[in-house]
Amino acid sequence: MLKKIKKYSSPKTDGKTRKIILGDNLDVLSALRADYKSKVKCVYIDPPYNNGEKYTHYDDSTHDLWLSDLKKRLKSLRDFLRDDGSIWISIDDGEVHYLKVAADEVFGRKNFITTVVWQQRTTRENRKHFSNNHEYILVYAKERKKFVASINKLPPTDDVLSRYKNPDNDPKGPWQSVSVNVQAGHAVKSQFYKLVSPAGVVHAPPNGRCWAYNESKMLGLIEEGRIWFGKDGAGVPRLKKYLSESRPGLTPETLWFADTVGTNKEAKKHLLKLFPGKDVFDTPKPERLIQQIFEIATNEGDLILDSYLGAGASVAVAHKMKRQYIGIDKGQHIIDYVIERQKMVMNGTGYGVLERVSDKTEGFEFFKFSG
Ligand SMILES: C[S@@+](CC[C@H](N)C(=O)[O-])C[C@H]1O[C@@H](n2cnc3c(N)ncnc32)[C@H](O)[C@@H]1O
Repeated sequence: MLKKIKKYSSPKTDGKTRKIILGDNLDVLSALRADYKSKVKCVYIDPPYNNGEKYTHYDDSTHDLWLSDLKKRLKSLRDFLRDDGSIWISIDDGEVHYLKVAADEVFGRKNFITTVVWQQRTTRENRKHFSNNHEYILVYAKERKKFVASINKLPPTDDVLSRYKNPDNDPKGPWQSVSVNVQAGHAVKSQFYKLVSPAGVVHAPPNGRCWAYNESKMLGLIEEGRIWFGKDGAGVPRLKKYLSESRPGLTPETLWFADTVGTNKEAKKHLLKLFPGKDVFDTPKPERLIQQIFEIATNEGDLILDSYLGAGASVAVAHKMKRQYIGIDKGQHIIDYVIERQKMVMNGTGYGVLERVSDKTEGFEFFKFSG
């Protein structure tokens, strides 16, 4: 049973799900199943990695039970996913291959999407034989086809945006030009003709190529001002692609570098800024990393579930990105840290990504599982 603890909750009047729950995730998930089955767009989890280290805030040495415990939880988490939902699982080198096999069994190999490699540190660890600078994120869909159709592109970088310019003061705004000749393999006769530029230079498609459009369509595009012949009007014709008409998003890559998504160290520094002088969580994830996952896999209003909440990066980012969320952890630290962090997020003092002050309806609720 989940018991709402009022003193740790903050008023919420908009009817959205924003829950932070203390308890073992297997118990909590079974208590939530009836209400949230097939409702979650994205599960992100960062379970203990079974690396034998003992951290201050949790015990990570349950080697023999680790995989079967985790598999039970994966099975339970699967029930929560929408058909177009996905699960993202952080893991390191020691267990990734075992976890991949277990997760294949739970989600089906056909629903395996990719393994993201995240550069989690940028400095060399000289005390070890190999400096371990990366971790993995295994990505599975509930139903591959539906998830893939729902994936978002990443926002364009400044570099991509800077390719759109407006040298001719086009009222339609910045544009970049693309070739209007294509391979002639499947061409029809009407794609071969000579084109006269405004400065009177005659252009024919290069050998083995043809124009992308027939002559009347091409003349129409010239009339509309959509064909660019260079500043002097004499150059090879190119099509103007307007920023306002294109969605220049970036296809996510599988290598995620620290300069884009941050490091463990960055995340720890962030926590120390929020809780100066405190013994903060050892292995937090940077908000930028979580933001990138949510950008790809969710949209505003979607529900996110993290059943290994730790220091609460996922719910902090979800709150700022206007997603709904459920965060679960069995450690007392979620009272000491996550609730405080979430309040800071709400009043705009949480630092990290996308700082914004939430409106008064956007509180969250705190629950405790009691058997
Ligand atoms: C690696 S940490 C998560 C760190 C988190 N991603 C962050 O950015 O701060 C793993 C967390 O899982 C929690 N945990 C481990 N087993 C759990 C279980 N069975 N139920 C709930 N929480 C669990 C631990 O208390 C710990 O906080």
